[in-house]
Amino acid sequence: MRRLAAALCLFLLAVLVGFSQEKKESVPPQANAQLVIPPEEAKRENPVKPTESSLAEGKKLFGYQCAMCHGEKGDGKSELAESMKLTLKDYTSPDALKDLTDGALFYIIEKGKGQMPSQEGRMSAHQKWILINYIRSFAKKSGDAPKPVAPPKPGL
Ligand code: HEC
Repeated sequence: MRRLAAALCLFLLAVLVGFSQEKKESVPPQANAQLVIPPEEAKRENPVKPTESSLAEGKKLFGYQCAMCHGEKGDGKSELAESMKLTLKDYTSPDALKDLTDGALFYIIEKGKGQMPSQEGRMSAHQKWILINYIRSFAKKSGDAPKPVAPPKPGL
């Protein structure tokens, strides 16, 4: 009997150990809910200039891949957002992204965050930078949007 109990304990222990290891390996759907952006990623600079043509490209991409959640106008109002009960920022407000650098946005788009799907492998880096410029342009259209972090260039 004692042997059986000991065997049972061992078995349970093995299950527990196995379980905790499995938990570490498998990625639960909300794994990125608390996405931590490494400082070196946040420091990355956007190599793409928001020219008219790159913004037009960003608009197209955004329309296909992002607007169903973030809304055509970037205001976070969409049917999908409503049905999924997503809490989305209003990108037409200059305050929405003021605390996030382009590098941080890049990291979020790449890795995904909470309900935001990861774009890793689905999009080139160039496309992501273009999208970031486009997202920032929503606020610029509706008034003055201070570009975060990057200090104003002299003479501008
Ligand atoms: C399924 C809906 C969905 C789609 C599609 C989606 N997003 Fe998001 N996105 C979200 C949600 C939800 C958040 C907020 C995540 C959080 O903070 O938990 C978010 C956050 C972000 C953020 C971080 C800043 C912020 O608003 O908090 C950026 C940047 C972003 N999305 C860009 C994009 C881009 C670019 C695309 C298209 C390639 C896209 N998203 C597609 C749902 C979506």
